[in-house]
Amino acid sequence: MEIKFIDDMAGSGESNCEVHFLYKIKDDIQLSQPSAILDEGTDGLLSETLNNNKFKGKFLDSFFITSNNLPCHDALFICVGDPNELTESKNEKIGGAIYSKLQERGTQGKVLIFIDDKMKGHPATNIGFGMQLKEYKFDKYFTKKDKEKTDFEVVVCRDGVASTTLEKEFIDKQAMADSIAFTKDLISEPSNVLYPKSYADRVNDLEKFGIKVTVYGEKELKKIGADALLAVGQGSERESQMVVMEWQGGKKSEKPVAFVGKGVCFDTGGYSIKPSKGLKDMKYDMGGSAVVVGTMMSIAKRNLPINAVGVIGLVENMVSSTAYKPGDVINSMSGQTIEIDNTDAEGRVVLADCLWYTQDKFKPKTMINLATLTGAISIALGDQLAGIFSNNDELSNQLIDAGHQVDEKVWRLPCDPIGERYDKYVDSTIADMHNVGKGGEASSTTAAQFLQRFVNDTPWTHIDIAGVTWNDKGSMTASGGATGWGVKLLNKWVDNLDG
Ligand code: BES
Ligand code: MN
Ligand code: ZN
Repeated sequence: MEIKFIDDMAGSGESNCEVHFLYKIKDDIQLSQPSAILDEGTDGLLSETLNNNKFKGKFLDSFFITSNNLPCHDALFICVGDPNELTESKNEKIGGAIYSKLQERGTQGKVLIFIDDKMKGHPATNIGFGMQLKEYKFDKYFTKKDKEKTDFEVVVCRDGVASTTLEKEFIDKQAMADSIAFTKDLISEPSNVLYPKSYADRVNDLEKFGIKVTVYGEKELKKIGADALLAVGQGSERESQMVVMEWQGGKKSEKPVAFVGKGVCFDTGGYSIKPSKGLKDMKYDMGGSAVVVGTMMSIAKRNLPINAVGVIGLVENMVSSTAYKPGDVINSMSGQTIEIDNTDAEGRVVLADCLWYTQDKFKPKTMINLATLTGAISIALGDQLAGIFSNNDELSNQLIDAGHQVDEKVWRLPCDPIGERYDKYVDSTIADMHNVGKGGEASSTTAAQFLQRFVNDTPWTHIDIAGVTWNDKGSMTASGGATGWGVKLLNKWVDNLDG
């Protein structure tokens, strides 16, 4: 779907469908300026329709009018509430709604969207962005694709803002849309296609955006002492990998921000094997790493003036004669020993080495890790919020704020200092720690406490995205499946950093 911008309503030309906005200010339904012009030109066709149908005007309520009296064949009217209260993410939802309506309608050819100067929140570019997000589909394995193809191109006409300004603004949104699509592609791929090595190859492609990519295979990982990561992957035929992405957009001397991701390409649970129900979902157990990849890609494509590193640990957690077993005691890069109580608590074991490596090698200003770490987080928070755990109030508050701005919200749960309350849950009777807590108690926090033992004193936040990475139902701005949740959040967080 192509999206273009113009700033002159008079020069918009012919179209197959027009999209107009209606406002609801307090209890009053009002017409946008372009729809008022349309109403006048059609002897009150629009106001008549509104009156006859007792239009309530809830956010995103919509209808089509088809009439020979219209300058085009077909027009979509959509209510956006109070135009002064529009935000980035509301505008994205409006875009998603427009896309769905046109798609259902089978609209073809040119679509004109008319935006007057009352609407706030960068409506032209964010509506375009929302349409692109909603358009995404992982359909590469269908042999017949045509039936649901998008057949329209979009021209957004925004009163009062130069089209060149909008085009420039949209480059940034396009970078976001591309990176979110890349993230969703990775998450959607089945594990027979996306395994550690093939995944690392795909990440290597990011070099074309100016990101330096370094891939560690098992030999190199052994050399740097990544025994914990290697233990999780040792049951798989597929070679484990760690991939490091570096973006230098800031001064050489400036410390980077770091993103670390869990990349378990498939999680059978290992010998602490998972039940077969829902097992296929475990192809998306690399979601955290995919968000890190997408975030690095967007930072590079947006050419942001910061230094950033991304580190992802890629393994398969399998059952075989070489697999690690409950009761094993393993080493980690940090030198701390780990008793494996449960081979299904593998993500934290992989992250242990990735986190240690990242803080040791890059001395980052801040370190944020993302992981589909615990089923318990979706029991606590469902699919509405991700859980965050942190050793730093400022960093967690920044993430909470950014989450509100982009509608990828996070909720902070406890993570105690080392030696206190919940931290004690991870003490083992045979090694420095074990990889589960006290039965199932506070199990999302236990996982976070385990991770915290590998971050040293770096300001750090762990985001448990197990509940938000996949959503069969979809949303206003996404068809069902991989959500790419986190790429927008981290970009907004970066944008909000001072300087
Ligand atoms: N990958 C799972 C967590 C998960 C569950 C992600 C559902 C997405 C959807 C993780 O490796 C895991 O198995 N966690 C265990 C930990 C337990 C053994 C302490 C869990 O949550 O049950
Ligand atoms: Mn597991
Ligand atoms: Zn897992």
